[in-house]
Amino acid sequence: MNKISEVVARRVWDSRGWPTVEVEVRLAGGRSGRGIAPAGASRGLHEAVELRDGGPALSGKGVSRALAAVRETIAPALIGHDVADQEGIDRLMVALDGTPNRAHLGGNALAATSMATLFAAAADAGLPLWKYLAGGKAVDLPLPQIQIFGGGAHAGRRIDIQDLMVIAVGAKSFDRALEMTCDVYHAAGALMAERGQLQGIADEGGWWPAFASNEEALDTLVKAIERAGFVPGEDVAIALDIAASEFGENGRYRLALEGRELDSDAMSQMLAGWIDRYPIVSIEDPLAEDDAKGLAAFTRAVGARVQIVGDDFLVTNAARVEAAVEAKACNAVLLKPNQAGTVTELRAALRAAQAAGWGSIVSARSGETEDVAIVHLATGLNAGQLKVGSFARSERMAKWNEAVRIAETGLPFRGKAALAH
Ligand code: PGA
Ligand code: ZN
Repeated sequence: MNKISEVVARRVWDSRGWPTVEVEVRLAGGRSGRGIAPAGASRGLHEAVELRDGGPALSGKGVSRALAAVRETIAPALIGHDVADQEGIDRLMVALDGTPNRAHLGGNALAATSMATLFAAAADAGLPLWKYLAGGKAVDLPLPQIQIFGGGAHAGRRIDIQDLMVIAVGAKSFDRALEMTCDVYHAAGALMAERGQLQGIADEGGWWPAFASNEEALDTLVKAIERAGFVPGEDVAIALDIAASEFGENGRYRLALEGRELDSDAMSQMLAGWIDRYPIVSIEDPLAEDDAKGLAAFTRAVGARVQIVGDDFLVTNAARVEAAVEAKACNAVLLKPNQAGTVTELRAALRAAQAAGWGSIVSARSGETEDVAIVHLATGLNAGQLKVGSFARSERMAKWNEAVRIAETGLPFRGKAALAH
């Protein structure tokens, strides 16, 4: 047992150039751990509230209130606490917050502190975080979901779909999965350049989606897979994050690019048509967070063939996962530490998913930093899958590179068997 001696909060900056919260948990004896809160752009209605200052400075995105929450409320409560008691610390922070959605202290303050505590505990145990989390149990390297085109809220809503990703389903090792993705990513860029469509990259490092329709994006992705020398669906498959809450509400879905409005059934049918025509193995938030019925119907229709992931719909919340399992809506959960607020809550959501035989994917946010905690969570908690955005920009590559280091230890790679369906 080692006690927390100091909790330091500081303002650092994220990949979009906005302020965010870093917390450093220091222990008696000199060891320490750090955590940085990421930031979403397409946030779920029910996720933990990110505490921002508002007002004119820094476009309202200042974090001095969140830093004050750490310094004035969280730090005094944590000092002297056993760093290894993650659950106790997380519960204490949730109690200190006292709101259902972390609006008082801020999900950003809690997430950074929770992760810093976890890193400090691993450092104190003299173990890499993934190993500390695994606690002697056998774990696998995660299957990567990597973005090739960014869209939706991450690309000025240039296309409706938020993430067009690939999963190297034919890869027999983690390194090979990254190598295959590298080839597809650059083949896609070359294709865009030849067509005069290369206009830079979106928030998570995927190519800017200069497409006339959502289907053109899908067609281009298939061509990029082929151009890289792979068989679509066999070597490399497609994963989509529709992020439908961004353009759907009350059962109506407005496809801006095509100027069409669909009801829930028509939206499902359009997506089912894509699943028939394209090698899609995973689809996230196909319908909006308020469309539980639609999600259940969609899962009934295609859930035996593809992984259906709840992000905005489930917001890393165990109770919401349990309700969705009961309603048979989705068959996999996306897990984001700052969506829940604490590591303990993320673990509860993961347990609820695993108990139901669901798939699980630990995920980054669109606003990220050099923090690599999610790679350790995905591996150490044996989540099976990892989503960190694209294969460019160092806030993304820091995570893939950390995974490369973990892979070097010889952990097994489950490959496509990690997918639900
Ligand atoms: P966000 O989106 O981080 O911008 O909220 C990521 C996702 O929807 O998976
Ligand atoms: Zn999502």
